[in-house]
Amino acid sequence: MFSHVCFSVTLLMFVLGSQALDPLSTTATSGSSPSTPTVHCWCASYPNITLCSWPEPSHFPPTHYVVTYSERHRQSIMKECQLIPPRSSASALMSSLSPASERLWHCQLPNLKLLTDYVINVTAVYSGGSSSYLSSFMLEDIVKPDPPVDIRVSPYDTRNLLVEWSPPPSWSDLKIFPLKYQILYQWEHRGSLKSVSLGPLESTKVELKRLTPGREYLFQVSAKELLGLGESSNWSSPVKITIPRTNS
Ligand SMILES: *[C@@H]1O[C@H](CO)[C@@H](O)[C@H](O)[C@H]1NC(C)=O
Ligand SMILES: *[C@@H]1O[C@H](CO)[C@@H](O)[C@H](O)[C@H]1NC(C)=O
Ligand SMILES: *[C@@H]1O[C@H](CO)[C@@H](O)[C@H](O)[C@H]1NC(C)=O
Repeated sequence: MFSHVCFSVTLLMFVLGSQALDPLSTTATSGSSPSTPTVHCWCASYPNITLCSWPEPSHFPPTHYVVTYSERHRQSIMKECQLIPPRSSASALMSSLSPASERLWHCQLPNLKLLTDYVINVTAVYSGGSSSYLSSFMLEDIVKPDPPVDIRVSPYDTRNLLVEWSPPPSWSDLKIFPLKYQILYQWEHRGSLKSVSLGPLESTKVELKRLTPGREYLFQVSAKELLGLGESSNWSSPVKITIPRTNS
């Protein structure tokens, strides 16, 4: 009897656990199968601001979106997410990265609680029906800082370099939630790309030694929350430096 209870509790936890881990459950509630938004949520300013974004279908865009979220265990207390429509300037900026004319919607979820399961429902409303994207997440799992900025590379001695950078300005508080960094440098050697990754480092500078004179190197830095929460940031845009040839 007792073991039976244990078994069902374990099973229940397993079911809940796998639900919590599945970020992509979707439901369509319409006969004409309009497309379900594909939503991506991340927190670049842990824990202050969480953003979710999804592309608007170019062929049959919905008439509007309704985005609600709540704590998983208090779904009666539903909040509406503040929608940010696609901006023409933003989409022009994105167009080099994303498929042509992809218009991204965003919505902002302010002040989420730590260690709390949330459920988000992004519903695309069409004249003939609607289609909802449902997902659950915890803030800790979707942390993703913006890339570090202002990468500076300076030779300080023959064949040695000092690489320095600044933390992403969007990160909320470096004292309470410090970041760690990874450095990637790459070069071409006989037609193939070589790379070295260093870190994680807690400081915002590193000395690199014994680089090859005359060779061009590409430097990039990424940031991650110090305890390892969530994902690493994207790599910063690369900085190129050619090591001076020594005058012998
Ligand atoms: C998602 O939101 C839509 C629109 O508010 C609503 O009709 C639908 O019932 C919601 N789905 C769930 C599972 O809460
Ligand atoms: C983050 O939120 C906290 C609490 O709401 C607030 O005190 C703090 O100023 C915010 N930080 C930033 C960078 O917005
Ligand atoms: C990170 O890179 C991906 C893929 O290149 C891009 O879609 C996304 O917008 C980038 N995110 C940030 C914060 O730069």
